[in-house]
Amino acid sequence: MTNKPTLATQAINAGDLPAKNGNPFREGPQFASTFHLAGEVDPAVYQYGRFNQPTWHNLETGLAQLEGGDTIIFPSGLSAAAAVLTSLVEPGQTILLPNDGYTPVRVYAEKFLQKFGVHIQTIATKDIDLFSFEGIDLALLETPSNPMLDTFDIALAAKKIHEHGGILAVDNTTLTFLGQQVLTLGADITMSADTKAVNGHSDVLFGHVSSQNNELVEKMREWRKFSGNIPGPMETWLVHRSLATLDVRLERMCSNAMTLAQLLLTHPKVSSVRYPGLASDPSHEVAKRQQSLYGFIISFELANAEAATTFLEACQLVHVATSFGGVHSMGERRARWGSDDIPEGIVRFSVGCERESDIVHDVLTALDTI
Ligand SMILES: Cc1ncc(COP(=O)(O)O)c(C=O)c1O
Repeated sequence: MTNKPTLATQAINAGDLPAKNGNPFREGPQFASTFHLAGEVDPAVYQYGRFNQPTWHNLETGLAQLEGGDTIIFPSGLSAAAAVLTSLVEPGQTILLPNDGYTPVRVYAEKFLQKFGVHIQTIATKDIDLFSFEGIDLALLETPSNPMLDTFDIALAAKKIHEHGGILAVDNTTLTFLGQQVLTLGADITMSADTKAVNGHSDVLFGHVSSQNNELVEKMREWRKFSGNIPGPMETWLVHRSLATLDVRLERMCSNAMTLAQLLLTHPKVSSVRYPGLASDPSHEVAKRQQSLYGFIISFELANAEAATTFLEACQLVHVATSFGGVHSMGERRARWGSDDIPEGIVRFSVGCERESDIVHDVLTALDTI
């Protein structure tokens, strides 16, 4: 009997070519806008760089193995979300989006889909478990949500939306396929901004969607081909290279996050902490059931905007930036954008791969300056 390696281990080789003497482990990026194509069009070969190309194929094969569904890659997380929203909905149909998720996804739907007669309904992530899904044709939801880390039960939402003939897509950016297997839980589509942890080095924008439903996959692939939302080979290759270290990065980031969340919970300068790994967190029960990691994002509240800014400026190891999931710890006062309905003093903190003692010392020292 052979023991199938874990997904974490599979990620080290996923999408690589079979071993052959004299070959490298992985092909380099293929920079080609077009391919030799004499005679009639042969569907079995590469034809033109906007349709398909070998570097895409290698990463898509690897991600398909790890997600458990056919995969299409995109040049950003938002273009992956746009593929879901644009290619699967007809005028007159209704999309459900979170009102506490990544705001630009909602802005895209409101600016570019509503005018073609698509209806948009929104919901708070914490209310999804009690929602009926009646009248919803497509839901694109996030769990844990970003930035406040609320959760919903994916299997329950899938069951309910399917009873009404709808499609469930889940944005899995905050956990990745190693932290939550969205398709196994019953969703039709998993979507990810690989700009975050999947690439993990804050040097590439990228995204993908995966699904076991061929009809949905073909519609989204067609949208990529005809809208021209295609990733470059270099970015594709860099994301592929990052897959191999995703598990070790997540292991360090999530364990650092748990340690920090516990320390922040009892810290006198911190008024509240959201981290799904804390037993007291409202997201804990669902997270324990459906996630294999609690994640690397902590959202915590300081007294006011000034306290949050003082804290962030005092940190030596933390990059103040609007992203998450990188090897470097990153933080920002999220309300500075004015797009999320959250208190002024909330810090969204993405914990990196630093040694635990170093990042703990940095955060505690910075809190003392408030
Ligand atoms: C949950 C989530 N989904 C989608 C996106 C969009 O990804 P990108 O910035 O790569 O377009 C982001 C970006 O922050 C995000 O946080």
